[in-house]
Amino acid sequence: MGILQGKTALITGAARGIGKAIALKFAQEGANIAFTDLVIDEAGGGLATEREIAALGVKAKGYSSNAADFAQSEEVVKMVKEEFGSVDILVNNAGITKDGLMLRMTEAQWDAVIGVNLKSAFNFIHACVPVMMRQRGGSIINMASVVGVHGNAGQANYAASKAGMIALAKSVAQEMGPKGIRANAIAPGFIDTAMTQQLTDDIRNEWISKIPLRRGGQVEDIANTALYLASDLSSYVTGQVIQVDGGMNT
Ligand code: NAI
Repeated sequence: MGILQGKTALITGAARGIGKAIALKFAQEGANIAFTDLVIDEAGGGLATEREIAALGVKAKGYSSNAADFAQSEEVVKMVKEEFGSVDILVNNAGITKDGLMLRMTEAQWDAVIGVNLKSAFNFIHACVPVMMRQRGGSIINMASVVGVHGNAGQANYAASKAGMIALAKSVAQEMGPKGIRANAIAPGFIDTAMTQQLTDDIRNEWISKIPLRRGGQVEDIANTALYLASDLSSYVTGQVIQVDGGMNT
């Protein structure tokens, strides 16, 4: 029996990448999986992800929704509650980058990144907390980034959104601890996904030379940390940010 047997996890932006790896990991441990992405279809991989999760013998359903939209997010949580009966684990994973140096960064770049990365986490936490309170417990995980801890030239919007997700997790941990709801953040370093595959070889190699473990992280490295935070293995851990970065910032 898996360590998440009978739990329901809701993961945003999980058609591919880190979110998908977390969904599969949780499903292997017995959790039923609700996940979102902008569009759940064949082209974007969402329907294949749904089938891969279901093949592990758990309930799986993908919901098309823009996580930056408050009303849509509320609607998704309502549908998940009806379909699955509970929400025990929330992973705020949906995220985008729109990089640029401060002098050239447009208002649209700023608003898009803050909306998709940070406001989405507010939207889902706001909708899930009443459900978790009625259940007397839950685990919330915000997918931040090492740049949310240290900053990064050319990513002021992204770094600020990720720092916001860390402070959001810490604040929710303080407010909701007495109700049995834990909230933590994961700060991945350089992980091999579509997001980092956009980089040139030179930039990739420069990053990797700064990582003591001399490799990019794999999505499973993040999924394993998410499993720890989602499960009772971390039952006395809340308000923390765990850097999973190969030692890059130590
Ligand atoms: P990805 O680009 O492969 O996957 C992100 C998913 O979110 C995609 O399926 C995308 O369609 C979805 N998405 C985008 N906007 C959305 C919206 N408005 N509503 C719903 N879904 C939306 O990215 P990856 O690498 O898997 O990243 C996942 C999370 O991890 C992000 O929050 C990212 O910022 C964070 N992260 C990634 C790192 C990396 O090195 N890949 C490092 C640090 C953090």
